[in-house]
Amino acid sequence: MKNILFIASEGVPFIKTGGLADVVGSLPKYFNKDEFDVRVILPKYVCIKEEYKSQMTYLDHFYINLAWRSQYVGVFMMEYQGVKFYFIDNEFYFGGPKPYSYIHEDIEKFAFFCQAALSAIPVIGFKPDIIHCHDWQTGLIPVYLKDRFNSGEYYSNIKTVITIHNLKFQGVWDLKKTMDITGLDKYYFTSDKLEAYGDANYLKGGITYADRVTTVSSTYAQEIMTPFYGEKLDGLMRARSNVLSGIVNGIDYETYNPETDTAITANYNQVTFRKEKWKNKVALQKDLGLEVDRNKFLVGIVSRLTDQKGFDLIACVMDQLCAEDVQFVILGTGEEKYENMFRHYDWKYGNRVSANIYYSEEMSHRIYASCDAFLMPSLFEPCGLSQLMSLRYGTVPIVRETGGLKDTVAPYNEYEGTGTGFSFANYNAHEMLGVFNYAKSVYYGHKREWNKIVDRAMQADFSWSKSAKEYEELYKSM
Ligand code: ADP
Ligand code: GLC
Repeated sequence: MKNILFIASEGVPFIKTGGLADVVGSLPKYFNKDEFDVRVILPKYVCIKEEYKSQMTYLDHFYINLAWRSQYVGVFMMEYQGVKFYFIDNEFYFGGPKPYSYIHEDIEKFAFFCQAALSAIPVIGFKPDIIHCHDWQTGLIPVYLKDRFNSGEYYSNIKTVITIHNLKFQGVWDLKKTMDITGLDKYYFTSDKLEAYGDANYLKGGITYADRVTTVSSTYAQEIMTPFYGEKLDGLMRARSNVLSGIVNGIDYETYNPETDTAITANYNQVTFRKEKWKNKVALQKDLGLEVDRNKFLVGIVSRLTDQKGFDLIACVMDQLCAEDVQFVILGTGEEKYENMFRHYDWKYGNRVSANIYYSEEMSHRIYASCDAFLMPSLFEPCGLSQLMSLRYGTVPIVRETGGLKDTVAPYNEYEGTGTGFSFANYNAHEMLGVFNYAKSVYYGHKREWNKIVDRAMQADFSWSKSAKEYEELYKSM
């Protein structure tokens, strides 16, 4: 039996700002329980729903020294769907309406979290063989393990994996201040360790000190070794290429299942989608004030509204995309310029564009189920889960060939009758528009072909079963 401890800053169903939470919350369920005991440590954010907080049980508390302050650490636990989740409590650090705030606050928050999580291991009574870290928020874990948590019953011989979900975010802050906050010796703050371009960099620390580095698709693993995608760490990624690998994400096939989903109007599966799926569309059109027409080409977007997701391409050709025979439904929050852009088009094309500038799990499920196509023209995309959710619901993804989008969406080939979606290569608005119009022409002109794409999309298997095995192999090889 191998003991694996995930440490992360978010995880469903407790707290989510993006795909990281989906992965951390669902992957642990899918390991072989006879061989792996996988548990998870998360912060006990004040903004976690009461529904969950009230089910957590208090285990113990103690104090740790962070910089010059002594800080309270409470440890709570809750079992959810067969997985043991532990929560680090400290209302000073984990208060506020969202998990993240200003970077200087987050730098201290996650220095605290990393030390607190490691210090909580004896309280939990679980000696990990491997600690699996996720993103910059847990980048200090391998560093602290090396520096101070390295001997005795609970800490000797722990191996570490760090998974990069998004290289763009690295946890960068002033060198001197970070030295102070983390309590780490200046030995660590050199360019071969935590220092990068004059600042301290948590993710760099994690990548440098972890035994294995993974990211969430093979294409992204290759891309981040190049300057364009490397976010100024491509040199480091190349240096670590002997321990770097890509394991594509899956999604939770129980949570995202059109056959049983209670958030959607009409359930369906691979056999019944032709007769049932459109009922979701019509109900959504009605509720959102779009013209009700089961035959209209309805295109969905569910996303954080940031540059990463390719919204400047959409901005460039939105008037052309919004042709008479197209409807758009957008669900997302983020950068104001994009929120306002979609509000504007909603106003301009009232009965064919619906901008929903908020966060709602339920609405996201309805959109995945209702739409004909899903548009995701990302500038870069480590993996992307939205396109996997779309495939699962038989909603045809239109994507740019980058990162996980390239690895998970097979482009339609009309001559061979293959493919699960549509894709384009260059980050160019007119190339996107061309592929978008091609998809539309297949939808309107070749319905049987379209339905076969839907069929293949629903058949594609992006459940965790395959990728969880790859993580198991990785753990075994360590
Ligand atoms: P990223 O992690 O970069 O944001 P992913 O595609 O990996 O992108 O994951 C995004 C996740 O967040 C998906 O589960 C998607 O459904 C969800 N999501 C994004 N925006 C919203 C929103 N406004 N409301 C509900 N869910 C959202
Ligand atoms: C990040 C990436 C996204 C990926 C997710 C989960 O948020 O932007 O592409 O799917 O992490 O790994």
